[in-house]
Amino acid sequence: MFSKILRPLTDLVRHVMSKPDERGDLTSDLFRLKIRNKVRQLINNNTGLLLDIGCGTGLLCENLLTQENTLKVIGVDTNHEMLKIANESFQKRRLHNLNFLKAYAQNLPFLNKSIDIAICINTFYNFYTKDDVVAALEEMERICKRDGFIIFDVRNKKNPFVYFSFKFVWMYDTQVTLNAYSLKELTTVLTSRGLVIKETIPIGFPITMFAPIILVKAGYQ
Ligand SMILES: C[S@@+](CC[C@H](N)C(=O)[O-])C[C@H]1O[C@@H](n2cnc3c(N)ncnc32)[C@H](O)[C@@H]1O
Repeated sequence: MFSKILRPLTDLVRHVMSKPDERGDLTSDLFRLKIRNKVRQLINNNTGLLLDIGCGTGLLCENLLTQENTLKVIGVDTNHEMLKIANESFQKRRLHNLNFLKAYAQNLPFLNKSIDIAICINTFYNFYTKDDVVAALEEMERICKRDGFIIFDVRNKKNPFVYFSFKFVWMYDTQVTLNAYSLKELTTVLTSRGLVIKETIPIGFPITMFAPIILVKAGYQ
């Protein structure tokens, strides 16, 4: 009942807050866009093999491969429809250093220590359980080279807007799972395996502890 009224309203807000050329894309909105832009800055000038986990339609890859870099990018996602859109969109541009394939974040089909940059953004908060997020972070640690790094984002449960909008998601959207975490509960998955947190970047509010989203960059010493 609530969701019938509120869902169109939240869709409208998302639409208005999306970048014009991303409008209508299944994975666009202002916060997600900010995260992708920040991630692009973090990986600027890096080379090697980048894995975009939960790549969706490949929006992160936009601009990455047109910059003067020699990155190779693999996008993985569980959703066939998203991968189809990504493939069609990039094939037209004949980019050969970019591939998409179906895979689960919790069981990545890559060898240990084979990836230079492992990224998973705008994805963990949709996972059904914390165990899924932990499994995905463990996989990222397993595949990431010792001189590489990992980037992911935390939808921060210490932010009141995130806390309440996720808790009462059933009122405006019955079809989506939203789970928020604290920074510590996700970073300890990596620090307990020997990684260090190199940067935490607040998105949407300047104070990291209360920001709605915290972008994390982790690597070995
Ligand atoms: C909100 S979209 C984010 C897309 C992209 N990362 C971005 O920032 O534009 C989340 C994506 O995660 C994918 N996904 C959900 N669960 C997954 C899993 N267990 N493994 C890999 N991808 C998953 C969904 O299919 C969806 O395409």
